[in-house]
Amino acid sequence: MPDSRMRCRIKVTRNGPYLLSGSIPLNRMSIVSPSANGHLAWTTDLQFPPDETYALCRCGKSGLKPFCDGSHVSACFDGTETAVLEIRDDPDEVLEGPTLILHDHEELCSASNFCHRMGNVWNAVEKSDEEPYREIAVYEASCCPSGRLVLEDRVSRISCETAVEPSASLVEDRSENVSGPVWVKGNIPIESADGRTYQVRCRVTLCRCGSSENKPFCDGTHMDVGFKE
Ligand code: FES
Repeated sequence: MPDSRMRCRIKVTRNGPYLLSGSIPLNRMSIVSPSANGHLAWTTDLQFPPDETYALCRCGKSGLKPFCDGSHVSACFDGTETAVLEIRDDPDEVLEGPTLILHDHEELCSASNFCHRMGNVWNAVEKSDEEPYREIAVYEASCCPSGRLVLEDRVSRISCETAVEPSASLVEDRSENVSGPVWVKGNIPIESADGRTYQVRCRVTLCRCGSSENKPFCDGTHMDVGFKE
């Protein structure tokens, strides 16, 4: 593993910000509806200047978003982490199609809606012996920022996840006019306030509106509260 990747870490501080270390590239990415057909797409709007460390707001109250300005103290932010450390497959969360298996962890959903882009990913998995549907399933699952949807090939049992370099993206959902979570990519370890490490995953989304009930992960509540950076 390259040295740069080994140094990347995210620390969830007690009732305070996320501390990103190891020169993790930070940018802003938006969900947009680029065409009349309503299909969603990702665009990269802004690349932040590289820095060794960043303190990102997770209470939603900072006046310097996306960075922490200490407002979590006056806001008496309760950042208690409620997520499980290890995501395990429940039989109800596994959908077996003819050529693909979908692992669906709904508790990680960040409500980005890419899974409905061209039909829906569940239908596509069930018809995955037809190449166009298989392609739709792979594409829609790969656009999901939260890692809720993970596909594996049914024959080889190899994951369809694409390896990516570590990075973090601040999500703007322009199609819904709200701001969203921090999209963490590339297997960056995330450590809880009490020093335990969450299961390392290819992609996860961290709440930055302060309202998720599955902290530190986003659960889509930013939509309900109309979070705006
Ligand atoms: S950013 Fe999604 S629930 Fe807070």
